[in-house]
Amino acid sequence: MAHFDLLIRGATLLDGTGAPPRPDDLGVVGERIAAIGAIPGDATAARLIDARGRALCPGFIDVHSHSDVSLLLDPRGESKVHQGVTTEVIGNCGFSAFPLALPERRQQHLDLLASLGTGTIEPTWSDLEGYRAAFAQRGGTALNLAPQVGHGTLRIAVMGMERRPPTVEELERMQWLLAQALEQGAFGLASGLTYPPSGYADTEELIALSRVVARFGGHYATHARAETEGFGHVEEAVRIGRESGARVQFSHLALNVPARWGRHADLLRLFEHARERGVDIAYDVYPYAASSSCLTQYLPGWVQAGGPRAMAERLRDPGSRARARADVAAGWFGGIPWLWDRVVISRSGDPHDTASPGKTLQALAVEAGVPPEELVLRLCETRGNAVEVVLFYRTEEDVQAFLRHPLSTVGSDGLALPRDQGEARPHPRSFGAFPRVLGRYVRELGLLDLATAVHKMTGRAAERVGLRDRGRLAEGLAADLVLFDPARVADRATFAEPCQLPAGIDLVVVNGHVVIDGGRQTKARPGRVLRRGE
Ligand code: ZN
Ligand code: CU
Repeated sequence: MAHFDLLIRGATLLDGTGAPPRPDDLGVVGERIAAIGAIPGDATAARLIDARGRALCPGFIDVHSHSDVSLLLDPRGESKVHQGVTTEVIGNCGFSAFPLALPERRQQHLDLLASLGTGTIEPTWSDLEGYRAAFAQRGGTALNLAPQVGHGTLRIAVMGMERRPPTVEELERMQWLLAQALEQGAFGLASGLTYPPSGYADTEELIALSRVVARFGGHYATHARAETEGFGHVEEAVRIGRESGARVQFSHLALNVPARWGRHADLLRLFEHARERGVDIAYDVYPYAASSSCLTQYLPGWVQAGGPRAMAERLRDPGSRARARADVAAGWFGGIPWLWDRVVISRSGDPHDTASPGKTLQALAVEAGVPPEELVLRLCETRGNAVEVVLFYRTEEDVQAFLRHPLSTVGSDGLALPRDQGEARPHPRSFGAFPRVLGRYVRELGLLDLATAVHKMTGRAAERVGLRDRGRLAEGLAADLVLFDPARVADRATFAEPCQLPAGIDLVVVNGHVVIDGGRQTKARPGRVLRRGE
C-alpha cells in the first residue's frame, strides 16, 4: 500500500509540456513527485488534498528576475511565491552578486547592485559557492534560484568601471572567473548592454565570453543595446550566438520607440530567420505595456561614465552640467523622445522623499519649478542608481504579439519583494506577472490556451534555462507545484497599488514542501541556489 507525504487527488493536470489538461492524481514523497495517475483509494498520505475543479501544474519558472539581493534581505520572496513562482533565474541584465573583487572594488560592486533597488548587503563572499553558502547561513529561501553570471559584475571584478576593451590578460581573467562560476553551477552569462559597465563591451568581448559559456552547455542572456535605428540590437545577439555556439536568451523583448510601435512582426521575423539558420535564440517577455528601471540608465553614456560617484562629480562642473542638460533633453538611448508625463517615479531612492513615488517627471518638474531634464539630473546626482522609474512606452498590441509567439517564455523582470514596500510603488510585475498571464491573457482575452500558457511558464522555460529536474509533472522530478483555480486566478497588483497579492493561487509547493497553503505563506524555506543540469 502506497504512502505519500502529499497526495493531491482529482486535479486537472497541466503537465508543463503543452499537452491537453487531464484529470489525475499526484503523489509526493520527500522532495520528488512519486506517482502520477489513478492512485488506488487505499493509499495513505500525511496530507491529502481534494483538488477537483482546480488545476495542478509545475511551479512557474521566472526566467528573468532580479532577486539577487532582495532574497538575501528577505528570504520569504512574498511577491513571487504567492504567484506560484518556484524558481527564479537571477543575475540578469548584467547584475549579479558574484564574482566580487573584495575589498578593492567593493564600492563599485555595491553601486551596481544598488540599481536593483533593494537596499544594501554587505557581501562576505566572492564566488558563486560563497553566495550559495550565504543563503544557507540565513536559513534558505522560500523558492529556488538559478544563478547566472552578470556581465557587469564580472567586468567590475576584473577591470572596474573602465570604458574600454579589455586587454588580453583582462579578457582571460574574465573567462577564468566565468568558467569558475559555470563549474560551480551557474546557468550562463547575462549582459545588460544599456548599463555601464556591461555596455562598454564590444561584440568581440561578448563572443569570447559566450564561447566559455557554450563549452559548459550554458546560455547567453542579453538585455540588448538601445534600439534606435533598425534592429541591430537583435542582430548582435544573433551574431554572438552564431559565433560562440551558445544558446541565446533575448531578455524582455519589447518595442519602446514610439516611431516603431506596432512593428512586432518585423522584429519576430528576425528571430525566426536566425533559428532557420541554426542559431538557438528565443526570448522572454512580461505581460505589461510599461517597463521599469533605474533612472540613471536613461542618461547619456558620457554622463554616467565611471558610475554614480564619478557622475555626481562631473555634474558639479557648470559647463558639463549645461551640456548634460541639453543631451538629456534631446531624448534617451540616443534620441527616443521624452514623454515626460509617461515616466513615473516608482522608488524615490531617498527615505526622506516619500512624496515622489507615483508622480510623473512632468508633475515633479512643475512642482520643483525646473525643466524636467534638470530634475532628472538632480535626482541622479544625489541618489545615484537608487531612483527607479516606470515608463509607459509600449503598446498592448506589441506585448500581445510577443506573448503569443511560440518563441516566448515569461520573465517578470521584477523582484521577489516583501509586501511592505513603504512609499515605493514598484512595477506591478513583481507581484502579478504570472497570474496576469493566466487571468487576463488566457481566460479574459483568449490570447493563449491554458496548456500553452503553462508550458511557456514551466516546461519551455526549463528547456531554455537548462533545468532538467523541473518544469514538468513527471515521476522522479522535483516536486515544485502550483494548484490554482482557473476560473478565479488573476493578478491584483496595479500601477497605483502594486503590492497586491494575486487571487486564485491556492497551494504552492517547492521541493516537496508547502510554501503557500490556502493562499497564505508558510514558514518553510525549502528553496536552493540550483546548479546547471540539476
Ligand atoms: Zn534588463
Ligand atoms: Cu532585467
